Amino acid sequence: MLKGKTAIVTGSARGIGKAIALKLASLGANIVVNDIPSSEDAAKTVEEIKALGVNSVAVLGDVRNIEDVKNMVDTAVSEFGTVDILVNNAGVTRDNLMLRMSEEDWDLVLDINLKGAFNCIKTVVRPMMKQKKGSIINIASVVGEMGNAGQANYSASKAGLIGLTKTTAKEFAKKGIRANAVAPGFISSAMTDKLSDDVKTKYFESIPLGQFGSTEDVADVVAFLASDMSSYVTGQVINVDGGLVM
Ligand SMILES: NC(=O)c1ccc[n+]([C@@H]2O[C@H](COP(=O)([O-])OP(=O)(O)OC[C@H]3O[C@@H](n4cnc5c(N)ncnc54)[C@H](O)[C@@H]3O)[C@@H](O)[C@H]2O)c1
Repeated sequence: MLKGKTAIVTGSARGIGKAIALKLASLGANIVVNDIPSSEDAAKTVEEIKALGVNSVAVLGDVRNIEDVKNMVDTAVSEFGTVDILVNNAGVTRDNLMLRMSEEDWDLVLDINLKGAFNCIKTVVRPMMKQKKGSIINIASVVGEMGNAGQANYSASKAGLIGLTKTTAKEFAKKGIRANAVAPGFISSAMTDKLSDDVKTKYFESIPLGQFGSTEDVADVVAFLASDMSSYVTGQVINVDGGLVM
């Protein structure tokens, strides 16, 4: 489905980003694995991707830094010829109630989650415009739609990402570039694994499908949006949340 395509996945050394990178690779795409400069997992992720029979390189760099982002996109173009797919997945949380939230934590979360995506989109649309085709997928969150106490910075960044997605879709539709967002709900992770059964049951009661999602559930929807199976879909937010937000 993605044979010969090139995808950049930011923050893909681990977690949801890694699952997305492996999924796109399993469908035939060559993958640029991006993560922070200190990442020790990126090289391992590249090896796992290569084992699927496609090419992959790690380009470590901070999405907040436009020079790092330019280097990432330039490397993708020089290694693989162009960029067909960008997944803005890099993201962080610094939770606190608003009255206690520091300016530093507000700025950090907005800079990585929102400005980082802006930097990557602004840079990647150049090779995409040249080939008059591209798919950009931003990993938002249900809290960008419904808010969440203790996450003013994070929910604002994810709501901003949804606005950025729609503007990107409108500005670049005529250039053949589509932009969509995926909004995950509760996804199983090292963090959710630590929750007690009682707490998990409480969460499950609020989710119509009655369970947490997996990183693969998110990756499957990203693969759909990355491929030509979604060629008439742009400017949309697809929730992967078991029905939490309807
Ligand atoms: N886990 C969930 O339940 C959930 C729910 C909704 C949305 N999300 C979103 O999904 C995405 C991935 O989340 P995850 O749970 O896999 O998190 P994670 O912390 O496991 O992975 C995030 C990755 O991004 C990298 N990263 C952080 N800052 C970066 C930067 N400045 N430049 C480049 N890379 C950077 C990290 O090093 C890490 O490898 C995030 O955008 C998150 O907001 C997660």
